[in-house]
Amino acid sequence: MNIALIILGAGKGTRMKSDLPKVLHPIAAAPMLIHAMRAGHSLTPDQTVIVAGHGAEAVTEAAQSYDETAKVVVQTEQLGTAHAVAQAKDVLADHAGDAIVLYGDTPFISPETLERMIEARKNADVVVLGFSAADAGRYGRLVMKENSLERIVEYKDASESERAIDFCNSGVVAAKTSTLFDLIDAVGNDNASSEYYLTDIVQIAREKGLSATAVACDESETLGVNARAELAQAEDLFQIRMRRDAMENGVTFLAPDSVYFSFDTIVGRDTVIEQNVVFAPGVTVESGARIRAFSHLEGCHVSRGAIVGPYARLRPGTELAENVRIGNFVETKNAIIDNGAKVNHLSYIGDAHLGAATNVGAGTVTCNYDGVMKHHTEIGERVFIGSDTMLVAPVRIGNDAMTASGSVITKDVPDGALALGRAEQTNKPGLAVKLFEMLKLKKKKRNEESN
Ligand code: UD1
Ligand code: MG
Repeated sequence: MNIALIILGAGKGTRMKSDLPKVLHPIAAAPMLIHAMRAGHSLTPDQTVIVAGHGAEAVTEAAQSYDETAKVVVQTEQLGTAHAVAQAKDVLADHAGDAIVLYGDTPFISPETLERMIEARKNADVVVLGFSAADAGRYGRLVMKENSLERIVEYKDASESERAIDFCNSGVVAAKTSTLFDLIDAVGNDNASSEYYLTDIVQIAREKGLSATAVACDESETLGVNARAELAQAEDLFQIRMRRDAMENGVTFLAPDSVYFSFDTIVGRDTVIEQNVVFAPGVTVESGARIRAFSHLEGCHVSRGAIVGPYARLRPGTELAENVRIGNFVETKNAIIDNGAKVNHLSYIGDAHLGAATNVGAGTVTCNYDGVMKHHTEIGERVFIGSDTMLVAPVRIGNDAMTASGSVITKDVPDGALALGRAEQTNKPGLAVKLFEMLKLKKKKRNEESN
C-alpha cells in the first residue's frame, strides 16, 4: 500500500508568542514537526507533504533535514483545515494509494495507532482517529452510530446533546488519496467560523454512500501544543517516556528525573547513568558504560566499558573506544580516543586522535585553532602526556613517547622520545628570603604614609 503523509502546520500559533513557526519549536531537541514526521514514517510513506504558513523556508529546511524528499506547500491564508489539505492536491495529483493527515503540532501519535488506522481502512472509506476526552472542551465531536461514523461536529456548531459526547476528533484522518481530495472539493465554509472544515468530509462521504469509521487512541497521544506551558508539558511527557523505555531496555538510572534525552539518544543495556546527565542530539552509548554525574554529551559515541565524567563534556565527533576514561572538567571535540586511553582531569582534546593505552595528564590542551583554521593532533599508543602540556597543532607524538610537564610542544616527537619544551629551571640560594624582607618593608612604609 502506498501512503502519502500530509502534515498540517500553517496555523499561526499566536499563543506561542514567537517568531519561530509553532511546528519548529523543539521537543527533546527535535522540532515538533519532526516528531510528527517520524510517527508517519513508520508507515514508510512514498510521499510527505507539509502544509506551512509563515516561515515556510525554515519549515522546509527542518523537514528536508529529516527527509530530503519531503515537499512543503504554502497556505498563504489560513482558511481552515480542509483548505490546508487542499494545498497538497497538486503535489499528490497522481498518488495512487492512501493519504493520512497529521498535525505538525500534535507530536505524540504513535506508529501503532497509525497502523491501526491503515488496518481499519480495509473496511471503511474514511477513517478518523478519535479519543475519549477527560474534558472534551472545544474539540470536535464524533457522532457514531454503532461502528459507523456519521459526522463530526465542531464544538462551535454543536447542539447541547452533541456537546455531551465525549468521543472527540484528534484531527488525524485516513482515506484513499483521490477520495480525500474529491471530498475536500465539496467542503464549504457555511459554519460558525466561516472556515473550510476538514471534519466536514465525513458527512459528505456518508451522503455519497461511502463508509466512515473511527479508531480510538489514548488521549495522551493527541496532546497538542498551542502555548509554551503545553510545550513544557510535552517535553516532560516525552522525557518520562524516554526514561521509561531506557529502563525497560536495561539501563540503570540513579535519579531518572534528572536525566534529559534527545529524540534520538540510544543507550545500551547495563549502562549506568548517574544524576543530572544531558544527552544532546546524536549520542549512542554502548552496553556497560557509565556516564557519571553532570556530564553533557552531544554527537558522540561511547563504547562498552567506558567511563565518562563526572562533569565531562563530549562534543560532536567524539568517539570513545572500549574502556576509555574521560574524567572531570574534560572537554572533547572531534576526537577519536582508542581503547583504554585516559584523559582524567581538566583537559581539552579537540581535532585529535589518541592511540590505545595513552595517558593524558591534567591540564593538557590540544591547541587546535590558530584563529583562522583548525589543525589536527596525532598522539600514538602508550604515550604519556605530562600535566599542563600544550600541544600546538598540527603536531604528532609518536608511540611510547613522553612529554614533560608544562611543555609547549610545537614540533613532532619521534617514537619513544621524551620531549621537553619548557624554560630550564635555575635556583638562586637565599634570594626568596631577601625578597620577602624587601617586600614587607615596602608595605610597612606605604601603610605609614597613608596614616
Ligand atoms: C481541529 C478540528 C477539531 C479537532 C481538533 C483537534 C477541524 C475543523 N477541527 O480543530 O475537530 O477536535 O483540531 O486538535 O478540523 N491548520 C492549517 N491551516 C489552516 C487551519 C489549520 O494548517 O487554515 C493546521 C494548524 O496549524 C494545526 C491544525 O491544522 O496544526 C489544526 O488546526 P486548529 O486551528 O488547531 O484546529 P482546531 O480548531 O483545534
Ligand atoms: Mg487546535
